[in-house]
Amino acid sequence: MSLRAGPVGRDPTQRARLADAREWYAPPEPSLMTTTALLFEPMRLGTLTLPNRIVCLPLYLAYPDPDHEVNGLVLDYYAEMADSGAGLVVVENVTVEPCGLGNPRTLLVSEDRFVPGLARLAETIRARGVPAVLQLHHAGRYARRPDRIAPSSVETWGVTPREMDLSDVERVIAAFAAGARRARAAGFDAVELHGGTGYLLTQFLSPRTNLRRDGYGGDAGRRMRFPLEVVRAVREAVGVDYPVGYRFLADEYVPGGLTLEETIPFARELARAGVAYLSVMTGCYDSFALPRYLEDDRTEGFMAPFASEIRAAVPGVPVIAAGRIQRPETAERILRDGMADLVGLGRVLFADPLWPRKARGEIDAPIDSCTPTCSLCMKRIVAQRPAFCGRWPAERRERFLRRIGE
Ligand SMILES: Cc1cc2nc3c(=O)[nH]c(=O)nc-3n(C[C@H](O)[C@H](O)[C@H](O)COP(=O)(O)O)c2cc1C
Repeated sequence: MSLRAGPVGRDPTQRARLADAREWYAPPEPSLMTTTALLFEPMRLGTLTLPNRIVCLPLYLAYPDPDHEVNGLVLDYYAEMADSGAGLVVVENVTVEPCGLGNPRTLLVSEDRFVPGLARLAETIRARGVPAVLQLHHAGRYARRPDRIAPSSVETWGVTPREMDLSDVERVIAAFAAGARRARAAGFDAVELHGGTGYLLTQFLSPRTNLRRDGYGGDAGRRMRFPLEVVRAVREAVGVDYPVGYRFLADEYVPGGLTLEETIPFARELARAGVAYLSVMTGCYDSFALPRYLEDDRTEGFMAPFASEIRAAVPGVPVIAAGRIQRPETAERILRDGMADLVGLGRVLFADPLWPRKARGEIDAPIDSCTPTCSLCMKRIVAQRPAFCGRWPAERRERFLRRIGE
């Protein structure tokens, strides 16, 4: 199995490198790759010590209630993720101000009153010996709110968001900083800024969605300004000893959208601004339903070649690879070939929360793999219903559905 060529930068050297990386991606024969030595090697991430290289990626599952507070469903899910054997747990997108809510059933960190609930969540993860990261989020034009804002008034899902003026820019930067301060006060070990999936930080970066003519729009340098100011404000708010990671969109997979040609220089700026790691993903809402994305999404390790390109551009900054890393052999190979420092599991870990223990040989059973053509979890959250996995055993699925009253 090999990946098809995707939208890469116009630089021919870069194109060749990415093609090589994709060529690399003929997944290993299981019989030839039986060691997982690198996967279970501890590592330092800023001030944190991780017991291994497996990251539980942020996965928004529509578990919070419409009051935006941490509830029992959220706590139980993260307890299971922390017990999974992953070395780091990144909590799903938590929104920094109400007009940035991408879904009514989302956690908020916009006021001090949310800190006690978030503290229970941090403690649930940390009590299991795993560092906990909170992802800070603003949906921008993808907010499901009448007061949605965006860098420019680009129509989105039939609605036109209000263009942010300079006071909005200042307010949102301050909201990210305040959210980070609250995350630290709640006991989280680090924060991650959600620059993936085409949300607000990416909307400023992308020439498709940033049509501004002021200092926050125009050439690539000016389009980077807003996310970089957010990074600096957050670092100032939490202190330089506190890790600030970045969910990084390497390629929008959309004609005329961001490609490595622009995202690699942005990665270098983020490195200069002091981010603790880059967690690399590809695709956005405008591409998730396009045939090319759908096809790549079915392929094991499909984002790893992009992570590899980013890692080569930012020496010294740890990089997380994601994207259907179904098998431990694949994870090990990504590390062995220097494509990433850590491997992230999203749907993969949701489908089988015992993946790390099975990979380590603690449990002698085959891994239950996320079904590439399923998308049940995504369909559920789009319908604003708590997600479950089609791979869960019938008894677990029924217990879950009873719990949520379906
Ligand atoms: C249902 C669902 C919810 C997601 N929620 C988030 C999120 O809150 N924050 C984020 O950065 N990425 C989110 N992602 C992207 C995942 O973290 C991950 O990058 C992607 O699913 C690829 O990894 P996987 O193949 O192991 O799932 C989500 C993906 C899915 C399918």
